[in-house]
Amino acid sequence: MGALPTNTVIAVIGAGTMGAGIAQVAAKAGHSVLLYDAVAGAAQQGIERTAAGLQKLVQRNKISSADCEALLSRMQPCDAIEDLAPAKLVIEAIVERLEVKQQLFSQLENICSADTIFASNTSSISITAIGAALSRPQHLLGMHFFNPAPVMKLVEVISGVATDAGIAQQLFDTAAAWGKKPVLARSTPGFIVNRVARPFYAEALRVLEEGGADVATIDAIVRESGGFRMGPFELMDLIGHDVNYAVTNSVFDAYFQDPRFKPSLLQQELVNAGYLGRKSGRGFYHYGDTAEQSASQPQTASAQPAPTAIRYRGDLGVAKTLLAQAEKAGIAVSSAGHYHSPGIEIDGVRLALSDGRTATQCSAEDNHAELVLFDLALDYEQAQRIALTKSDQCSEQGLNKAIGFFQALGKSVSVIDDVPGMVLMRTVCMLANEGADAVNQQVCDAAAVDLAMQAGVNYPRGPLAWAEDIGLAWVVDSLDNIAAIYGEDRYRVSPLLCRKVYSSSRFFSDQPNDNE
Ligand code: NAI
Repeated sequence: MGALPTNTVIAVIGAGTMGAGIAQVAAKAGHSVLLYDAVAGAAQQGIERTAAGLQKLVQRNKISSADCEALLSRMQPCDAIEDLAPAKLVIEAIVERLEVKQQLFSQLENICSADTIFASNTSSISITAIGAALSRPQHLLGMHFFNPAPVMKLVEVISGVATDAGIAQQLFDTAAAWGKKPVLARSTPGFIVNRVARPFYAEALRVLEEGGADVATIDAIVRESGGFRMGPFELMDLIGHDVNYAVTNSVFDAYFQDPRFKPSLLQQELVNAGYLGRKSGRGFYHYGDTAEQSASQPQTASAQPAPTAIRYRGDLGVAKTLLAQAEKAGIAVSSAGHYHSPGIEIDGVRLALSDGRTATQCSAEDNHAELVLFDLALDYEQAQRIALTKSDQCSEQGLNKAIGFFQALGKSVSVIDDVPGMVLMRTVCMLANEGADAVNQQVCDAAAVDLAMQAGVNYPRGPLAWAEDIGLAWVVDSLDNIAAIYGEDRYRVSPLLCRKVYSSSRFFSDQPNDNE
């Protein structure tokens, strides 16, 4: 069928944060857009806000004033819902309530022609449930934009049980023609992004709750080792704890209280206290108080002597570039032979990548007291910070040797307490696990998971491709080890991840992975 032609009239209902942005996207693509809001004057105000935003882009030479004027001339406010009759695609971005959305689309079925496509921008309501109230549910889909709609590339195109697959493909093509990166998904709680992203917040909250590290240190590790634009606590403060906590709760309830999505008591207490984040001046951080802000610096280890030589055992997999970096830093590197557990030896101290066990457990199982674990990084060469944790049996001097090694490679080092899976390893393994489960449960395909997380929430790497970089077997082992320590169903491994490991296959190609 292909994309809707640009001479198709589009209607957007609800001229708030999302609606005005969506209207702008459709108008920019060349469509005539009718904008309607239940509040008199709100549609006009939405267009004025769009005009003001575009004016700034004209001043910064991002668009020409002629294009700006042409775009605005295609946006038309409507006073009555009956004025939307010519529209062939109606996108609603109204209040997030099922019965209000059902009532709106039922009304539209009597106003618009029988071939009109109806789309909801809902972030949490079942598309199937909205469609159940309609006489043509096959024409109803989710078209989930991200905020701000003109900037964020992702659009989740969601099919309910009754949705026509051809119409879903047509909306997908239309979103692509509008310059977006669409993904197809089945209507399930949280769709893709709001489901797969839960561990990004949840694992950080757990590490904090267990005293693994403080807020600023966890954020710094996630940014400076993980390459994420914002740390989880900064991001929760920006989103607002009321909103973030409500989304977590709604996903948790919608999955019949699957412990995977269990909300955090710590976050609930912030909501109880009214510490909602930036908007209330206080969340995990304080805002507008320089004295308190300067107190929230990441914990960074003081300078320690660099080693002159290291020995490596086995294949360091995702961390193998550390060896070349060490040589570049003038450290003599030699092999200690192939060994059961890969790692680096510095003068009797064993340094190994986190595999979900605590350092203390590794020390006991390897029968070696001087043991330090390092956390995952997106790219060990680019990473500016590395997190370390020592076993309870390891001496401070042993820890200092590990710190000195990473400092010699130009990294800041944060020493955290001995929590299973550290910070990034457990977070990325859980993100990949959730993504794999979404694929396993036929919500979407693997490419959609990775694209959604990169284009919808700016992740530096898709979680499934990242898991392949780490090695799927390593990810599965890490999750199993974390699950064994906590004894919680939350960390159970997705059947699809296990299957990929058993068959030595991958999500994105069948090339053998030399990290496995
Ligand atoms: P908003 O509160 O900024 O705007 C909603 C607008 O809809 C208001 O102008 C209101 O007057 C109008 N409205 C309410 N009921 C109406 C009705 N029955 N008929 C016509 N107009 C009506 O809300 P926002 O944030 O734009 O959200 C709208 C929808 O988009 C919700 O379903 C929300 O879950 C979803 N969404 C919101 C995102 C966000 O970041 N704000 C992101 C993605 C989806």
